[in-house]
Amino acid sequence: MRTFVLDIKKMGINGEGIGYLFKKPVFVQQALLFEKVKIHNIVEYPTYFKAETLKVITPSKHRVKPICPIAEQCGACSLMHADLTLQQQIKIDHIKQSLFKYAKIKNQQIFYHKNPQPINYRNQCKFILGIDNNKISSGMFERDTNQWLAIDHCVIHHPIVEKTRLQVVKLLNKHKVNIAFKASEEGYRYLIVRALDNKAQVTLISTVEVNNQSLIDDIANLEHVDSVYVGVNNKKTRDFFSEQTKHVAKNQYLNVTINDIKLQVSPQSFMQLNSEVARNMMNFVVSKIKPTDQLVEAYCGVGMISLLTSKKAKSVYGFDISKEAIANAKNHAKINHCHNITFDACDADVGIKRANKMFQQYTLIVDPPRSGLTDQFIETVLKANINQIVYVSCNPSTLAKNLRLLQKKFTIQSMDAFDMFSQTQHVEVTVQLVRKSKK
Ligand SMILES: C[S@@+](CC[C@H](N)C(=O)[O-])C[C@H]1O[C@@H](n2cnc3c(N)ncnc32)[C@H](O)[C@@H]1O
Repeated sequence: MRTFVLDIKKMGINGEGIGYLFKKPVFVQQALLFEKVKIHNIVEYPTYFKAETLKVITPSKHRVKPICPIAEQCGACSLMHADLTLQQQIKIDHIKQSLFKYAKIKNQQIFYHKNPQPINYRNQCKFILGIDNNKISSGMFERDTNQWLAIDHCVIHHPIVEKTRLQVVKLLNKHKVNIAFKASEEGYRYLIVRALDNKAQVTLISTVEVNNQSLIDDIANLEHVDSVYVGVNNKKTRDFFSEQTKHVAKNQYLNVTINDIKLQVSPQSFMQLNSEVARNMMNFVVSKIKPTDQLVEAYCGVGMISLLTSKKAKSVYGFDISKEAIANAKNHAKINHCHNITFDACDADVGIKRANKMFQQYTLIVDPPRSGLTDQFIETVLKANINQIVYVSCNPSTLAKNLRLLQKKFTIQSMDAFDMFSQTQHVEVTVQLVRKSKK
């Protein structure tokens, strides 16, 4: 077995430590900034190596024992072996390095909003069913593999998600259901649990239609369960949902309230995974919006930001590519009596062009997926008469690439990071941009 001793000089964007071997970077799992580590399982690629930590020779003073015994195997919590101080530094460094690498932005002040509850925060689990020790269990694929791993307890999940997940698994055992290990087999495949406002929504996905009313009744009777769905998905992809997902017991939606806005959430509606930090971030975004005649929200999902900001504008126009999300958003506008909002199901590149045609001047909010804004979207934005933009991003790299272009017409007024996903490398960033004055 080849081993080497490395000094970790910096952190990578996926939570790995980076050292150098034969002048090439080595991305080392489980290694932290400024540690000296012995590495093994080294795989060489044309421009870099990947490796695992065999032994930590000089540990970082920020190294901690992960509170989850299978953190390393599972891999979802890539920074659980670092304390929250180092996690914060790694996230801020990642944002700053991206800003410099892609937009040549230096010395940007970033205010960091801590997560008040760095464990037990995740309000949804999407788990794969399998058999462990002759019993049905739920779990995930191990990091970078196709190897299924049973997860008996997850400290990141909200306690109601966790309790409900384990109760449903117990019922699957009681009803002796078939489990499908592959898309081609017949049986139950995935279990999805979402918990909001102390109520849980359970979705069971099978590879063929299964009619098991007594199982559904038992699930519906569980303490926190407020909504039950079943679905069929026999595709080979790793998507959990399919179009054939239907409501089968209790309420059709999870009814939740954010500030005084009522939301009706269905299983496939996009919701931020950390309810408390999301609430803080949404309130922060709303506080940054100056009163305006026209507000436009691109990538609006189920319309939460539009609903929360609607009082600050004469009218609001929101768009999202997901027809289901827009149906939810329209319903939300109706039940909240927000008569000044129009929602549109369309691609963002199309929606922003429509906004330019409809409005002479507007304020823009964007909350795109990890891929960020397209160049075409930014081109349209640069042609418009927009006085203020609030950009919510879950990917510092694409944010920085987009800011490079947006800076032609806009100045960054403030930047904030929210620790939405503690114990992982992920971070949510909000940027407030204002139009440069015309010279
Ligand atoms: C990060 S979520 C933001 C949702 C919303 N702002 C919220 O907080 O609930 C990103 C949204 O972008 C939408 N989306 C993805 N690609 C899109 C595209 N090309 N055009 C428009 N919307 C898109 C997704 O459907 C999703 O709702």
